[in-house]
Amino acid sequence: MSIKTATLNGVATIEIARPEKKNALTQAMYQAMADAIHAAQSDGAVRAVLLTGQPGIFTSGNDIEDFMQRPPQSEESAVFQFMKALLGCDKPVVAAVTGAAVGIGTTLLLHCDFVYVSDEARLAMPFVGLGLVPEFASSLLVPELMGARRAAEKLLLGDPFTPEQAVECGIANAVLPAGEVVNHARRIAERFNTLPPGAVRDSKRLMHGPRRERVLQVISEEAQLFGQRLRSPEAMEAFQAFFQKRSPDFSKFV
Ligand code: COA
Repeated sequence: MSIKTATLNGVATIEIARPEKKNALTQAMYQAMADAIHAAQSDGAVRAVLLTGQPGIFTSGNDIEDFMQRPPQSEESAVFQFMKALLGCDKPVVAAVTGAAVGIGTTLLLHCDFVYVSDEARLAMPFVGLGLVPEFASSLLVPELMGARRAAEKLLLGDPFTPEQAVECGIANAVLPAGEVVNHARRIAERFNTLPPGAVRDSKRLMHGPRRERVLQVISEEAQLFGQRLRSPEAMEAFQAFFQKRSPDFSKFV
C-alpha cells in the first residue's frame, strides 16, 4: 500500500509511502488520499490532518508514467478528487515536508494550513520544463505570495528552492532538522485537540472564503490547458527524456 493512514490522538495522518519511486503519485494514490481526507472530515474524533512523506522525500509529484498512460481526463479524475478534498477540508491540514517536494508536491502545499519543511527539502514546480503549465491555482497563488519576478523563476524556469526560501516567500511556516519535522508538525496538529472545533472550522472557512471562487475558477482554467499540454509533443519529449535519463531536446519546436 503506497498511502498509509492512521488516526491517533485526534490527528489523522496520511503518509505517502512509495519510496522506490520517490513517492511519485499515481491515480490510485490520489484516490486513497481523497478518501482519507473525506474520512477524516466525517470522523468527529479527528481534529486535524497531518500529511507527510518518507525520510528524504515528500513526493516527486505526479507519476510520469501515469501521465503518459492514463492522463487525467476531466475534473472527475482522482487527482482532482484529491485536490477538491484538500481544498474543501474544513479541519486544519498540516504538512510535514520530509524531503524533495516536486510538482504537485509543492502545489498542494499552497492549500495546506501549516507547512513545516525539513532542512534537507528542496521544492520545485518544473511544469514548463515538462511541457506543461502550472496547476491547482499555482499560477495565481505563487505570484501573489512571492511577487511576479520570483514567481517567474519558480514557474517559468522551474528553479528549485531551498526550505529557507520557502519560508521567506510564505509557502512554509518553518524549517526543522530532518529528524524533527514530522514530530513538530504532529505537535502543531495535536494543539487542535485543546481548541474548540466549531470555532476552528468557522475561522478556516472565513479565512479561505473571499478567495475560494477565484481559486476554483483559476484551477479550472489551468486544468483545460494542462490537459491539452499533457498530450502535446513537447510533453511527450520531456516524459520520454525523463525515463531515458537524458536532457529533453525542445530545439525543433516553435
Ligand atoms: N514519476 C515516475 N517515476 C519517478 C518519478 C515520477 N515523478 N520520480 C522518480 N521516479 C522514479 C525514477 O524513474 C526512478 O525509477 P527507476 O529506479 O525504475 O529508474 C526512481 O523513481 C528513483 O528516481 P531517481 O530520479 O533515480 O532518484 P533521485 O534521488 O536521483 O532524484 C528526484 C529524485 C525526485 C529529484 C527525481 O526523481 C525527479 O526529478 N523526479 C521527477 C520529478 C518531476 O519532474 N515531477 C513532476 C511531475 S509534474
